[in-house]
Order: sequence, then C-alpha cells, then structure tokens
Amino acid sequence: MIYHVDRFSNRNTMSTSTEEPISPAAHLPDRFTVESADLRAEVSARMPIRFNADGEPYIPLPAPFERFYLAAMRQSDLPHDVAMMNDLRVVRSVHGPPFPNPLINAQRWLVRERAFVVALFDAYAKGEYRPAASSPFNVLHERKEDGSEEYVGQVTLGPMGPSAKRVTPVNETWEQWRSRGVFTIGAVLNLKYHRQGVASAAVRLLLDEWAVPQMGCTEIHASAFVSNVASVKLWEKFGFVEEPSLRGVVQIPEAKGGGVEPDCTLVWSLKL
Ligand SMILES: CC(C)(COP(=O)(O)OP(=O)(O)OC[C@H]1O[C@@H](n2cnc3c(N)ncnc32)[C@H](O)[C@@H]1OP(=O)(O)O)[C@@H](O)C(=O)NCCC(=O)NCCS
Repeated sequence: MIYHVDRFSNRNTMSTSTEEPISPAAHLPDRFTVESADLRAEVSARMPIRFNADGEPYIPLPAPFERFYLAAMRQSDLPHDVAMMNDLRVVRSVHGPPFPNPLINAQRWLVRERAFVVALFDAYAKGEYRPAASSPFNVLHERKEDGSEEYVGQVTLGPMGPSAKRVTPVNETWEQWRSRGVFTIGAVLNLKYHRQGVASAAVRLLLDEWAVPQMGCTEIHASAFVSNVASVKLWEKFGFVEEPSLRGVVQIPEAKGGGVEPDCTLVWSLKL
C-alpha cells in the first residue's frame, strides 16, 4: 500500500452543509500509542524514536531545541492545525490547500496518517524496519517548562505521485532498498515560532535521521514562491538547489488576495 503524506491532497472538498458533519476521525483515539514495552525498546534501540509516558512515539529535536519534538498527528492537534492553515499571515505563500481551509480536510488527513503510523508499527513488530514509505512525524510541538504543550506547526515528508520525474541521476552504488522515486517536503509553522531556527532544526532532523536512513530518500523536492525568502533560504541551507525547468506561475485565489506568483522547486539529492 502506498501512503501519501501530502497533507494538502484531498483538500478541495468544501462542505456546504450548515450542519456540523460527523468527523471521519471521530472513532480514533487522540494519539497513536505503542502498548508493548518490548517493541518500544526494540524500536528505540534501532531508531531515533522515543516514547512518552503514554507510549506515544516521538522524535526530539537536538539541542538547543530539545523542548521541541515531532510526533504523529493527534485529534487534539486538529483545531490548531485548522487555525494555522486559516491564518493568512502564515499561509499566504503556501500553495495547494484551499482557503478558507475546512476542518473536514484536516480530519481526513488525520485518518490517513493514523492508518499509516499503525501500519508502520505493525511492520516494526514483524521485524520489517525499512524502508518507511513516508514520515509519520509530521507535527511539531513545544513542551513548556510547566509541562504544558503547544502546537508549533508541521513538517511533512512523503512520496510524490508517479508522474513526478527525477531531475538527478540514479547512482548505481546506492543500496537496493533506497528509493529511486521522488519525495516532497514542506514546512508550515505558527507565526510566533518563525525565525527562531525551529524549522531548520526540524528539517535537519528529518533529513539526517529519517529521510535518508529510514525512508531511503535519494531525491526530495520542495516548492516555494520565489518571493518566499524564508522558505527558499530554509531549503538552500540543506543543499536544495533550484531546478530551472520546474519554474512556474501560480494563480493566487481571490480569498488570499488574488494575483499571480512565480513558483520554484528546489531539489535535494543524496550524494554518497
Ligand atoms: C518557511 C518557514 C517554515 C521557515 O521556518 P522558520 O522556523 O522561521 O525558519 P528558520 O528560523 O529555521 O530559518 C531558516 C533560514 O531562513 C532565514 N529566514 C527565516 N525567515 C526569514 C525572513 N522572513 N526573511 C529572511 N530570511 C529568513 C533564517 O535566517 C534562516 O537562515 P540562516 O540560518 O542562514 O540565518 C516559516 O517561515 C513558515 O512557516 N512560513 C509560512 C509558511 C510557508 O511559507 N511555508 C513554506 C512554503 S510551503
């Protein structure tokens, strides 16, 4: 089964009903947790995954960001996710999701992501450790000194559709388990967390600890408006290089202010 973590796919369905729809995620517990202490120990010994007291897997960011961690999406993330994705100051430069962005699409994303993380840990229980098809650790949280937690944003990483074409050559020395396909990465943070190095720390972690050793990524694409200095700089820091043949122009919906924006794709590839 192929899981696609593009959190913006299937986001074009706007509900016109005045009644509150029943959430397709209503049956899911708030968090995905692993009950078996043996499996938790085995997973932590092999990978950077840690488990909190409830048995929820997470990946902590390195110092000086150790109070931040990436985890799979929770039910309780949904209102924060929807609020962020409806904050025009944050999503003005984010191409793809509808605006306004309905709760139902975040709920559907949660359902897909939960199915993925369940399947991933089922595979670990059978001793099948890699490659992982994508990253289930999409949501960034901050743990405060008083023990409370805050939703920070999301960093998504997963396979692109079959029509995506590689722009860098396949290196025949790569191990067979590595993917010859193309992946996509994206980051969106709440405004209060911008420009503090948080996205850089999260992207570094995902690339070094997950994308390369666990997913076997060999080519990753990141899209950004050319005018989105923060995004372009973020990807360039990690060796992403703009691919001239993938330049385009995006029509901005009227609800987001209208107009057109030149859009670029930056490409990272594995060098061994
Ligand atoms: C893009 C985004 C995720 C970056 O997150 P962040 O945590 O602010 O990024 P960082 O603090 O790690 O900064 C990354 C680099 O960009 C630079 N930078 C960040 N914001 C910048 C800005 N507004 N202007 C100029 N440079 C900026 C930083 O200085 C840093 O470079 P440096 O290490 O050489 O100093 C965040 O700005 C965001 O959520 N933007 C809105 C959503 C969006 O546009 N997402 C990307 C398109 S999908």
